[in-house]
Amino acid sequence: MVRIGITGVPGTGKTTVSRLLGERLGLPVIDLNYVAEKFQIDVYKDSKVIDVEKLERELSRELPEDAVVEGHLICEMQLPLDFVIVLRCHPNELRRRLKHKGWDEEKINTNVEAEILDYCLIKSEENYENVYQVDTTSRTPEEVVEKIIGIIFGREGGDEVDWSEYLFTRL
Ligand SMILES: Nc1ncnc2c1ncn2[C@@H]1O[C@H](COP(=O)(O)OP(=O)(O)OP(=O)(O)O)[C@@H](O)[C@H]1O
Ligand SMILES: [Mg+2]
Repeated sequence: MVRIGITGVPGTGKTTVSRLLGERLGLPVIDLNYVAEKFQIDVYKDSKVIDVEKLERELSRELPEDAVVEGHLICEMQLPLDFVIVLRCHPNELRRRLKHKGWDEEKINTNVEAEILDYCLIKSEENYENVYQVDTTSRTPEEVVEKIIGIIFGREGGDEVDWSEYLFTRL
């Protein structure tokens, strides 16, 4: 029985990696973005806010005993997870991936800044015990999955990541 959370800022590869990891381990994959749709509260007509506390309560109750759960919101909550993997990506590569998704410059900048500031790592460490980072920058999705499996089976540790030198550079 294992519940693995995959988090990280948008574009770090959560969906890509979770799908592969689920296939490798024969675990169902739960996409938190999809579940969160049910927990939206209308604020203005084109802006929605997720009721994170309600989502956390419902999920904690309904989570299967074996699962890969993916989404950036994982780091904001306390779910009953055995491992939390924070996917990381070099700021330049992250910018490239988000451009490829067709995102506008402002949204890209906000998310690249969050990555440089270790946002998901800090939040995850506040909320969970077993937190490991995996750098996706120069790995293929398959290699990321191998690394995660190594961590879960206790064969290897997580990566160390430090993007702080990019804090004050124009990327
Ligand atoms: N090692 C890698 N691991 C994961 N994704 C990678 C890797 N290398 C390149 N990519 C690419 O990066 C992109 C990551 O997108 P993906 O949608 O999986 O990210 P995400 O974290 O789920 O984003 P979002 O939060 O917007 O859903 C994909 O186009 C994927 O092919
Ligand atoms: Mg995704």
